[in-house]
Amino acid sequence: MLDTSVGAAGEGTGVGHDGFITLDGVEKVFQVRRKAGLLRRERHEVRAVDGISFQVARGEMVGYIGPNGAGKSTTIKMLTGILTPSGGRLRVAGIDPSRERTRLAHRIGVVFGQRTTLWWDLPLRDSYRLMHRMYRIPDRRYQENLDRCVELLDLGELLDVPVRQLSLGQRMRGDIAAALLHDPEVLYLDEPTIGLDVISKAKVRQFLKELNAERGTTVLLTTHDLTDIEQLCRRVMVIDHGRLMYDGSLAGLHEVGESERMLVVDLERELPAISLESEGAGPLARVVKVEGPRQWLAFPASASAAPLVARIAAEYPLMDLSVREPDIEAVIARMYEAAAP
Ligand SMILES: Nc1ncnc2c1ncn2[C@@H]1O[C@H](COP(=O)(O)OP(=O)(O)OP(=O)(O)O)[C@@H](O)[C@H]1O
Ligand SMILES: [Mg+2]
Repeated sequence: MLDTSVGAAGEGTGVGHDGFITLDGVEKVFQVRRKAGLLRRERHEVRAVDGISFQVARGEMVGYIGPNGAGKSTTIKMLTGILTPSGGRLRVAGIDPSRERTRLAHRIGVVFGQRTTLWWDLPLRDSYRLMHRMYRIPDRRYQENLDRCVELLDLGELLDVPVRQLSLGQRMRGDIAAALLHDPEVLYLDEPTIGLDVISKAKVRQFLKELNAERGTTVLLTTHDLTDIEQLCRRVMVIDHGRLMYDGSLAGLHEVGESERMLVVDLERELPAISLESEGAGPLARVVKVEGPRQWLAFPASASAAPLVARIAAEYPLMDLSVREPDIEAVIARMYEAAAP
């Protein structure tokens, strides 16, 4: 595994790895039957999770990223007790999830972005009432949590709408609230921002940030959007082919892969390519494309965009700008290249 030392979790925040979530050589092997000719089917194994070990401390917010089929969802399903590991040891809050799934359910919340845990034909309010009873949440606690979620996730207008009529972003917010009504200590989020527009994404991120800061909820988050990680997680783990490839800060990951972020700059008018020399250190960014008044500048992803933006604002007629994160697949590809001899 690459570079576990960079920006180890909880650095400077007083939290250490007390192992609130602990995985020790965890494996999950699926037996699948595959067509091998006209009539023949052959059994074969998919090692979805192939010996993963890590610890997450109470109160941490950790990103769990990797390409399609890497084993992220399988890990989360084992952490909730939905799937039983084929090997290794796994504990969440001291509980073995697959042995005591019900006991664990009272202490964790789960959101699967790709499918809802809400009742499709019921209004949100009724789904929440069912959870109130299912989890035997004390009335006052339930009401407080509901009120808080309704306010922060902007659900007021949606409570009486049947779930099937909600938009994807509305449903996702509804699902997040549902996962939190019983005050879980741990929240697993599997692609909570998938398919959401920019505004919904921002709302969800802001909510999660506050939840983690105010309640100390431990959060494990899978995503394909590096901006989620950038804004929420001090620590990121990269998994590929069921193995942990990296555990450290996002900046560290960018350093390992020498990846680049893109600054998209809109100037007042068409101008020659922006040129910004820094004293002695060469250019701060490299112009990769110019299209009318719009220019694209690549800069090291581990660097801050602030000095670059300040220089451009001071020296050019700047109208607007945005920063684009590299995509996860590109970062991981570069990480492999960097590791190759
Ligand atoms: N129930 C299952 N039976 C057989 N194979 C499975 C099963 N669930 C997952 N797999 C396989 O295990 C591997 C890991 O799948 P998983 O869903 O954990 O990936 P993921 O990292 O969540 O990917 P994505 O980013 O696409 O959501 C894949 O090869 C997948 O096909
Ligand atoms: Mg998945």
